Amino acid sequence: MAILATSFKANACMSKKKILTVIGARPQIIKAAALSRAIEQHFSSELVEILVHTGQHYDQNMSEVFFTELGIPQPHYNLAVGSGTHGHMTAAMISGLEDIILEEKPNAVVIYGDTNSTIAAAIAAAKIHVPVVHIEAGLRSFNKAMPEELNRIAADHMSTLLFVPTHAGMANLLKEGFDMEIKNKATIDAPNVYHCGDIMYDNSLYFANLNKGRKGILSQLELNNKPYILSTIHRDSNTDNPTALEHIFEALMQIIEQTKLHIVLPIHPRTTAKMKSILSLAFLEKITANQHLILCPPAGFLDMICLEQNASLIITDSGGVQKEAYFFEKPCVILREQTEWIEVVEAGAAQLCGSDKDKIIDAALRLLKTQIQTNPTIFGDGNAALFICEKIISDL
Ligand code: UD1
Ligand code: UDP
Repeated sequence: MAILATSFKANACMSKKKILTVIGARPQIIKAAALSRAIEQHFSSELVEILVHTGQHYDQNMSEVFFTELGIPQPHYNLAVGSGTHGHMTAAMISGLEDIILEEKPNAVVIYGDTNSTIAAAIAAAKIHVPVVHIEAGLRSFNKAMPEELNRIAADHMSTLLFVPTHAGMANLLKEGFDMEIKNKATIDAPNVYHCGDIMYDNSLYFANLNKGRKGILSQLELNNKPYILSTIHRDSNTDNPTALEHIFEALMQIIEQTKLHIVLPIHPRTTAKMKSILSLAFLEKITANQHLILCPPAGFLDMICLEQNASLIITDSGGVQKEAYFFEKPCVILREQTEWIEVVEAGAAQLCGSDKDKIIDAALRLLKTQIQTNPTIFGDGNAALFICEKIISDL
């Protein structure tokens, strides 16, 4: 009897497709929550997911907090490849991932976005003929000085299934020569490209609903009933350039001066390290002495949603945060020269300012007075993860 039960289980298991999902950086962990949830709730008889964490992000508040609060299963593997140069980090990830892929023999490797973990997984899988499923494909900034631009272009061209969040992303892939015709079975030489909406929109809707009424972070920061601006800074073009970093902080302090608003800045560890190493001591003291500039550790996702929903304005260089600003109908100053999420700028909800101090101040003052119009459906209907699971089952 026990033997029969075991062989039945093995057969059932063999009929399932095994996907190996690779995550590493904070936004990928958050995005993975949507797919893991869809598999658990709707596709557990067709898909089994093995989670691999590269360890690119490793602090408790950059990684573990998301597994705990978003209900993501603990990773089956953790490569512990954090910090280091692009080459060292990516090479160590490729090597570790190849071993795991050979051992697990998945039907597909799922990757998110454009980080070093993304490109490492694409290379490791595609070279040993395991189909790559790229979620958040097709996005472009048209700035190859960004490591992310190189990562996403290469990852797209190694993928068998490409899931594109926006129409702009579809147009980019068309220009790069992708055949948009949908085939019964996709291959690396004849991939299927789908417009499916944004998987982060799935999460923002789902967790904002769960989060209703949760405002602990506002009490903690003594911001209950006080208007404030939320800011995040972590892009290397801002953090690794002393002039850019100084201009951004000067702009934030002048915005405080002119509006008397508080600015909350949950600081990415890269930024903390760079503030200490490249800003002058006198300027650093000026920043920390500013009573209205609330510097705090990276927030959990539920606190972050609360901070976004209650902010008057968001000032950020993050891809995810500029989009969430739009989801929650908040105007946004983008601390970059280009964006992959061009729709938010075209809608008039956000302005690109780079690290130009005057532009940042002018945009912030203008947008604080502007009632923006949003149409979040340009990012789909909040069911991107379900669509992706269906296509993984049917197309591979
Ligand atoms: C990475 C991604 C970027 C993404 C961002 C999300 C690449 C090339 N960049 O940038 O696209 O927007 O993640 O947040 O993949 N550090 C810690 N603890 C951590 C993580 C990082 O101290 O848990 C510090 C280390 O000093 C590390 C530095 O931050 O060297 C940079 O981390 P890294 O993962 O290389 O790049 P990010 O700037 O986080
Ligand atoms: N985020 C978070 N806590 C923070 C800052 C960001 O939970 O302190 C979330 C944010 O809501 C978004 C994601 O992290 O979902 C964006 O990640 P990040 O800004 O690190 O990277 P990017 O999106 O620019 O690649």
